Amino acid sequence: MTAKPRVFVTRIIPEAGLDLVRRHCEAEIWTEQLPPPYDLLRQKVADCDGLVSLLTDRIDAALLDAAPRLKVVSNYAVGFNNVDVKAATERGVCVGNTPGVLTDATADMAFCLLIGAARRLVEGDRYSRSGQWKTWEPLGHLGQDLVGRTLGVIGMGRIGYALAKRCKGWDMTILYHDVYRSEKAEQDLGARQVDLDTLLRESDFVSVHTDLNEQTRGLFNEQRFKQMKRTAVFINSARGPIVDQKALAEALRSGTIFAAGLDVTDPEPPSPNDPLLQLPNVIVAPHIASATVGTRNAMAEICARNLLAGLSGEPLPAWVNPEVAPKRRR
Ligand code: DGY
Repeated sequence: MTAKPRVFVTRIIPEAGLDLVRRHCEAEIWTEQLPPPYDLLRQKVADCDGLVSLLTDRIDAALLDAAPRLKVVSNYAVGFNNVDVKAATERGVCVGNTPGVLTDATADMAFCLLIGAARRLVEGDRYSRSGQWKTWEPLGHLGQDLVGRTLGVIGMGRIGYALAKRCKGWDMTILYHDVYRSEKAEQDLGARQVDLDTLLRESDFVSVHTDLNEQTRGLFNEQRFKQMKRTAVFINSARGPIVDQKALAEALRSGTIFAAGLDVTDPEPPSPNDPLLQLPNVIVAPHIASATVGTRNAMAEICARNLLAGLSGEPLPAWVNPEVAPKRRR
């Protein structure tokens, strides 16, 4: 009987995936609430064939160098900015992610933040609980309408499209900014591809759905917020570092924009003293857009299948770096 491959799993993921991993591998699972420290992770992967990582684990060239047997990094997320994919490819290591299954859950959260921020829902809830609510107020708690307004989507991929589809149900006009054209969004939703300046100038809601990469890091800075309407609502459910958080806090404080809804921050979690957390007109969710039972189970299953395919030399079901195929480690 051949020995099972050795793998390290950096957190407890749903049983739907963990069970598959345990059945086929000799698995060590990190059971703490916080991620394994980087140096410890480097030690753990030294004799591993496979690694299940989370977006909170930095998988860089130095870590990969410490794992000469590693065949696959299966990231339990659709985003993979925590993995140095180029370094993995150079070393013959396959990288997998979990696209598709979290599209609806993430678009639902973006929509939830959009309505919640526009209608000041969290602020209203705090007000009710605080004992300040004395009577119905004709001029109190005024927010922004949704129907017939304009949504600007930054990054018209799966999730951007799914949010736009929801907003189309509210009769919104859809603008998008992307390096690629989305004929699907144009045909199905009447979406119009525009440059960033036009999108920021014309949109009532601006929602970010792009990857974090060197082109998008810090994309939303002081100048970008100044280009938006004073009534604009800004949504980010992609990655925190796409936004200059200080500039966002200042735009919200000064009334340069109306409100924001964030599922991601930079860093995560933000410091309790972060100026953003002192403001009433921002909702900050703790990176929970994919957090439904069904979605996290589906992510776990794809993640496990990517791991097993990476170990057995099969094509990964969701393969970030298929170009590694000719030189992948066997
Ligand atoms: C992802 O998958 O990239 C999300 O940020 C977490 O599910």
